[in-house]
Amino acid sequence: MDPEKKIPQHVAIILDGNGRWAKKRGLPRSMGHAEGCRTVEKIVADADSLGIRYLTVYGFSTENWKRDDTEVGALIQLFRYYMVRLLRMAKENNVRVRMIGERSRFDRDIVDGLDRLERETAANTGLVFTIAINYGARDEIVRAARRIASAVRDGKLKEEEITEDLVASFLDTEGLPDPDLLIRTGGEMRLSNYLLWQCAYTEFYVTDCLWPDFNKAELEKAVTAFQSRDRRFGGV
Ligand code: IPE
Ligand code: IPE
Ligand code: MG
Repeated sequence: MDPEKKIPQHVAIILDGNGRWAKKRGLPRSMGHAEGCRTVEKIVADADSLGIRYLTVYGFSTENWKRDDTEVGALIQLFRYYMVRLLRMAKENNVRVRMIGERSRFDRDIVDGLDRLERETAANTGLVFTIAINYGARDEIVRAARRIASAVRDGKLKEEEITEDLVASFLDTEGLPDPDLLIRTGGEMRLSNYLLWQCAYTEFYVTDCLWPDFNKAELEKAVTAFQSRDRRFGGV
């Protein structure tokens, strides 16, 4: 990584490979998720120390409910536990926490915990850490389209006022810049319904490293790859 060169302002991560990490060690998948949560905590601090301003991680997709009840249950228990740790960590490190996705599907205590995380860190001025849970980009776009349609129906918005900026402002990521760099661990070359609108011109970096093994050195490798890219945004 060259500190003189441009650091991506917004890094989005598809943290994949927790299950495979556990399987390799003969452990239950839930142990991979627990280890993955520890990696998330560390990477927030590492991203901050590299000068990254926005970090957005994919924690649970709208499709992940298809997994068996034991695994979904274990993931929800981990959210419960890590929400509390995250609040303390965010307060100590001036981190602002946001959540994207459809939270009402979770139990009351989780919804309250997420609201509290956002509320009590809203004035922090450091890294903006966004967690995508029960997030699906298509679901996000559908929810935005419905809200835009009702605004037009109620006369609050004119059809010709629907622009790219307006659509973006109705998405869960309202106010966040688009990601500059998307990192996917676990080697898969796909988006899995993550930030479809926002990644229109994002640079992709895929590594075989499994998420629980990801660390600051791996993050620096991704930033180095980003620094060698020529971003043209459709120009020449
Ligand atoms: C990513 O790890 C975490 C979530 C999707 C919640 P996986 O659980 O998908 O791990 P693999 O892909 O099976 O190894
Ligand atoms: C993407 O990983 C979702 C999250 C990281 C939360 P998956 O493991 O669910 O994606 P697929 O099934 O391999 O596409
Ligand atoms: Mg996976």
